[in-house]
Amino acid sequence: MTKWWNWILGIAIVCLMLLVIPLTYTGSKSKEELRPLFDEYVEKFNKSYKNNDTEYEMRFEHFVASVREIDALNAASRGPEECRAKYGLTHISDLSKEEFAEIHLSDEQPHRRWHENTEHHRSSEDDGPHNNIYIIIRRKRATMPLKVDWREKGLVGPVKDQGLCGACWAFSTIGAMETMAGIKSGTLKSLSVQEVIDCAGLGNVGCSGGDICLLLDWLLMTNTAVQTESEYPLKLANGVCAAKKNATGVRVAKFTCDDLVGAEAKILETIATHGPVAVAVNALTWQNYLGGIIQYHCSGAPIDLNHAVELVGYDLTGEVPYYIAKNSWGKGFGIDGYINLAIGTNICGLANEVASVDVIV
Ligand SMILES: *[C@@H]1O[C@H](CO)[C@@H](O)[C@H](O)[C@H]1NC(C)=O
Ligand SMILES: *[C@@H]1O[C@H](CO)[C@@H](O)[C@H](O)[C@H]1NC(C)=O
Ligand SMILES: *[C@@H]1O[C@H](CO)[C@@H](O)[C@H](O)[C@H]1NC(C)=O
Repeated sequence: MTKWWNWILGIAIVCLMLLVIPLTYTGSKSKEELRPLFDEYVEKFNKSYKNNDTEYEMRFEHFVASVREIDALNAASRGPEECRAKYGLTHISDLSKEEFAEIHLSDEQPHRRWHENTEHHRSSEDDGPHNNIYIIIRRKRATMPLKVDWREKGLVGPVKDQGLCGACWAFSTIGAMETMAGIKSGTLKSLSVQEVIDCAGLGNVGCSGGDICLLLDWLLMTNTAVQTESEYPLKLANGVCAAKKNATGVRVAKFTCDDLVGAEAKILETIATHGPVAVAVNALTWQNYLGGIIQYHCSGAPIDLNHAVELVGYDLTGEVPYYIAKNSWGKGFGIDGYINLAIGTNICGLANEVASVDVIV
């Protein structure tokens, strides 16, 4: 009898250690107790301030704030373990929230101008108040592929790094145009992000910010040919427009720009039957994202939109269906530069402004 109890107790203790210790290993630590972890971090990411005491201390403060945020986000995570978003130390965990926002956010500046345009109105194909996205997906499963990933067709270019240039609006839109041109011509070509950074007007202001729909509107209005990346290389700084009037390149034939909040089935349909879309998002909680599916703690309010990404596919096969989003913060971010966002709840505001494009090659 005693042996039996000891055995159960033993298992219980092992389980507790496995479950509890990893989750609370930093949460209960004081700031000073986190210093060895910071030293490890500085070594691992080969930080340039290794030997600068002033900056070292400042970065340590930001690092501690990140550790607290990581613990809070991980502890509040729910749902199946294998689907949860995972947060941890990244190469930008030593930035303050202000620096992070300054460098990586506020580059998408949503404009509602196109809402007045009758061609680009809100979709009338709402999922409806009682039509949960999962019911819609189940209903459509027979006709809709369960998994779409344009990368697998070799039609998505490598992940780029916008560095200190706030041109997410250009990276995401040009990314979608590259794939659309690839579908038409059969070959993937890198298109020039720098050309639209330098040339696009209509409220787009290069590395200081812009908007995916205003860019498409400008490209269509001016009938601009977007040159290849090798013809007009990336400089990640504002420059004088050097696009040739008679240049050959990829042009916009038409585009859609819709508020699809409550109508995400339409986003899936577009990705499956047309191609990738560019979307505006709120990326404030992405600083320490490592992988998994973001399902919580990411406001979808239009006022919180501050970034833009390209949705290159989706996956409905698992317990938590998700979009595959291509970011422009380099390959070191998230899952080789990508991030998974849950379908159906306007997570991070991704359904507020959804743009698809048709091109002339
Ligand atoms: C670490 O960074 C320094 C410059 O700050 C560089 O010279 C060195 O090669 C880097 N080491 C590694 C392993 O990346
Ligand atoms: C150390 O870092 C501080 C703060 O970033 C900077 O102002 C200072 O110039 C740095 N000192 C050296 C020697 O690099
Ligand atoms: C484009 O125009 C320039 C002069 O503005 C000319 O030198 C060039 O040959 C033209 N290129 C093509 C492809 O027509």
